[in-house]
Amino acid sequence: MSDHQEQFLVDRLRGSSGFVPELSLVAESGNQILGHILLSKIKIKDVHHSHEALALAPVSVLPEYQKKGIGGKLIVEAHQIAREMDFKGIVVLGHSDYYPRFGYRQACDFGITLPFEVPDENCMAIELFPGAFQNVTGMVEYPKTFFE
Ligand SMILES: CC(C)(COP(=O)(O)OP(=O)(O)OC[C@H]1O[C@@H](n2cnc3c(N)ncnc32)[C@H](O)[C@@H]1OP(=O)(O)O)[C@@H](O)C(=O)NCCC(=O)NCCS
Repeated sequence: MSDHQEQFLVDRLRGSSGFVPELSLVAESGNQILGHILLSKIKIKDVHHSHEALALAPVSVLPEYQKKGIGGKLIVEAHQIAREMDFKGIVVLGHSDYYPRFGYRQACDFGITLPFEVPDENCMAIELFPGAFQNVTGMVEYPKTFFE
């Protein structure tokens, strides 16, 4: 699903305090950009605690280059960099038959909820280390810029 406004979201996120330059990646061939992924900082909050994590949004591959593994490579590479930067985990709102192959599970399995009225199967999360979300529960708080 697309509202065809994702490019403006990317632009706003780049200028936001949650932007992590190391987690904005492109796939290139020659001089052409074939795909892009952006992970930016979010908070997971309950009444007592606030934990920093990442949101994966958006990831995209040029239509004529889809289904060649580019999206998957961008996701795996972004995970690796995020792990090296010591982020605990990542949440994503997305296709329930795509992200599980990269290790994503329903966010509610971790006690994490997303602030959207969408099916649980589309709200997913991944721990970047075993047990990283053990004491992390609550609702994801996206920066305001996600909704502008
Ligand atoms: C989603 C997207 C980034 C995947 O990139 P990609 O390079 O095609 O992905 P890969 O080649 O690594 O993986 C291909 C697999 O993903 C599946 N896939 C791709 N898009 C999918 C979708 N929207 N829903 C479910 N599965 C999808 C393909 O069916 C294929 O499955 P298979 O390996 O079982 O045949 C790309 O399809 C895209 O840009 N889509 C439009 C933007 C979008 O929807 N972004 C995600 C927002 S949550």
